[in-house]
Amino acid sequence: MPQTDNRRNLIALLQLAYSAEQAAAYAYRGHWHSVVDVAERARIKQIEYEEWHHRELVGTILEKLGAHPNRQREIRSLLLGRGLGFLCHVMGWFAPMYGAGRLESRNIREYETAARYARDCGHEEFVDCLLTMAEVEWEHEYYFRSRVLLHSFGRRLTLWPAPPPKATIRESFAHETQDGCILVEAAS
Ligand SMILES: [Fe+2]
Ligand SMILES: [Fe+2]
Repeated sequence: MPQTDNRRNLIALLQLAYSAEQAAAYAYRGHWHSVVDVAERARIKQIEYEEWHHRELVGTILEKLGAHPNRQREIRSLLLGRGLGFLCHVMGWFAPMYGAGRLESRNIREYETAARYARDCGHEEFVDCLLTMAEVEWEHEYYFRSRVLLHSFGRRLTLWPAPPPKATIRESFAHETQDGCILVEAAS
């Protein structure tokens, strides 16, 4: 894929992620307020903080790429996040845990894809940050999956596919990069 396409794809994906982080953070704010267990409250509150931090990091990368958040997405994600946060108070314990785990598994892949676009458009400097965010999303998915599996109903459900072990995020990336280098060397 030409470098310009990778750059365009990276910006589009980061605009999406920037707004999605806002929706997630507001949803988690409602979520941790709605749970009773002290340890669950603390962990989900920490996850809310981590999503705000991701948003800051993604915003900085967008700025360095000379791009801006998408206004419409920002408005939509604000409403969505607030709405979901409110729903957490009326949906009970299970549904928000399940929904969060499912969404987090998608977030892992999004940051991995963004890291690949960054590498392929000559912005290696963003790769570590993007992979670190993928790893944090992996932790989030792991947490919500473990909560869902605590519930007898959750254990009877077929859950979303489990992501591969956390270490594979960097391992597969390093292999691809190495393979790419070998191919380039062989071709030159
Ligand atoms: Fe995040
Ligand atoms: Fe997350």
